[in-house]
Amino acid sequence: MSSPLRVGILGAGGIANVHARGWNAYPERTTIAAFSDVATDRAQTMSHLHTAGSAKVYDSIDAVVGDAEIDVIDICLPHHLHTDAVIKAAKAGKAILCEKPLCTTLGDGILIRDTLNETGAVFMGAHNNLFTPALLEARRLIESGIIGTPFMYRSIETFQSRSFDPWTSGSAAAGGGQKGWRANLTQAGGGELLDTGYHGTYRLLSMAAGDRPVEVTGFLSRFLLSHLPTEDTGHVIVRFESGAVGQIITSWAFDVVEGRQFEVEAEFGALAGSQTYLKHQLYKWPQAAEMTFPVPATFTLEIGHFIEMVQNGAPNPAPIDDTIRTLQVIKAAYLSAQIGATVSLPEDPTGTPVARTAAFNTPFSVEVPDEVLL
Ligand SMILES: NC(=O)c1ccc[n+]([C@@H]2O[C@H](COP(=O)([O-])OP(=O)(O)OC[C@H]3O[C@@H](n4cnc5c(N)ncnc54)[C@H](O)[C@@H]3O)[C@@H](O)[C@H]2O)c1
Repeated sequence: MSSPLRVGILGAGGIANVHARGWNAYPERTTIAAFSDVATDRAQTMSHLHTAGSAKVYDSIDAVVGDAEIDVIDICLPHHLHTDAVIKAAKAGKAILCEKPLCTTLGDGILIRDTLNETGAVFMGAHNNLFTPALLEARRLIESGIIGTPFMYRSIETFQSRSFDPWTSGSAAAGGGQKGWRANLTQAGGGELLDTGYHGTYRLLSMAAGDRPVEVTGFLSRFLLSHLPTEDTGHVIVRFESGAVGQIITSWAFDVVEGRQFEVEAEFGALAGSQTYLKHQLYKWPQAAEMTFPVPATFTLEIGHFIEMVQNGAPNPAPIDDTIRTLQVIKAAYLSAQIGATVSLPEDPTGTPVARTAAFNTPFSVEVPDEVLL
């Protein structure tokens, strides 16, 4: 790898712009060497905006991956193109940062995982919300044992934006503008739950770190964006092997008070947080202890960590199995919502979720007595 690292950004749309600012926050350690987009005018504009025109402009995945001077591929493409991009980048020996979702099917997840194993390529899922300081502090508190055994986790990822319309988002050259790729289910791979809900899902799994999700029940709704082909909102309940229960609330139809993003209710106390605060309270305390934080630049923090991973072997906060597990939980929620029943998750994160035949028995499971049904 060169120093500074030479980065090629694939896709020059909305999120690429944010990533470019992130790379440029580390000028001594990285250089944006290329932008690539089928809409080359977009790539050209980005090159001017972020590198004063010095970054090369390409029009395809193959072209940028084939550039021997590039060390890192940053994938900011529509969902259906992630698999091809990760596999080609790994085979070309590049380090890879890939936007969520990893891909649109668990079958593709297997192909990606196999390729990463064969090539040994450095890979990190772009799970930017894992870098929120309040969440990191919450995870530290959970691990410290101060609130005791977790019983319940809640992860919330919501926004209502009348100006963001997933139906029309996407460039004209990629079939976007009117009815962009997000409106095409074979390209987007799902609705709100697979898209914005990916953040809520990996956040939930990160709080329950090490606890395996075993059962999923999903409810999908279209509350507001009536023109979407599928959901604008997901409610997902996850049972973990320990018996703890998780809940994901994710939506393009509404927002929540004070931007709350997570909660944990546990044996001795509870905590709750957002991008800017973390409150925790043991049950006898008269009030919660509160920490406040400035709004974090999560993409810049994520990119900074990725650089540390590539250059100094820092631990990987979003390895391939974690990002596939995230996809598996979401696929399970879709299946659950379709069949109206709880779904079981195989131990292998690439395993296909199946309709539950028997309830998973946890240390906290209860038999429901007949009397309560009368
Ligand atoms: N982490 C976050 O909060 C966040 C936010 C928004 C988007 N995203 C993710 O980022 C990715 C891109 O989303 P976006 O909102 O930037 O989309 P976008 O439509 O704004 O940009 C995608 C770009 O890819 C280009 N493209 C399409 N096909 C291509 C090809 N074959 N080769 C090269 N370029 C091609 C399009 O022309 C477009 O410019 C998605 O995976 C999305 O889920 C993440």
